[in-house]
Amino acid sequence: MGKNIVLIGFMGTGKSTVGLKLAEKLRREFIDMDKEIEKVTGMAINDLFRKHGEIRFRSEEKLMAKKLSAQENVVIATGGGIVLQGENIAALRENGILICLDAEPEDIYERVNRKKGTRPLLKKNLQVADVAEMLKNREPYYACADYRVNTSNKSLDEVVNNIIKYIRNKQR
Ligand code: S3P
Repeated sequence: MGKNIVLIGFMGTGKSTVGLKLAEKLRREFIDMDKEIEKVTGMAINDLFRKHGEIRFRSEEKLMAKKLSAQENVVIATGGGIVLQGENIAALRENGILICLDAEPEDIYERVNRKKGTRPLLKKNLQVADVAEMLKNREPYYACADYRVNTSNKSLDEVVNNIIKYIRNKQR
């Protein structure tokens, strides 16, 4: 069985959309980590943050990373903060290839604004400059990726095909 393909990257870079399409094309199972956390906790991510705080969310995230690292041949979309805990990356890397999706702050701003209120770490009156600042702070963490794709100015198919090409070359 093949290694998992693990998508990492900032909020709004398209991890779930790309992951689903990638899994479809490769005929692999798709797992959305945040959705799995919602299933096991019985709570929407927003409620989990609101009722129990970020620390609790990060601990659920860590448990889920460990659990999913036992999988094989699946495509996993992670939450943007998965990289903040080194143990998560170590676990997911055991049997996975880490692909980071990048995007320009303006595009991220547009995308997260379309789904306003679903991301507890983003402030209400979010500006492009806030996104740029958060991206800068997170950048050293995303550098753990085996491969990175900038999704700005690329279609979904282009992004997916780019990843498939990388994976196939790597397997040769
Ligand atoms: C987070 C990103 C979110 C979600 C949670 C925390 C982060 O996932 O896991 O709100 O710390 O960047 P998305 O990247 O899918 O928005």
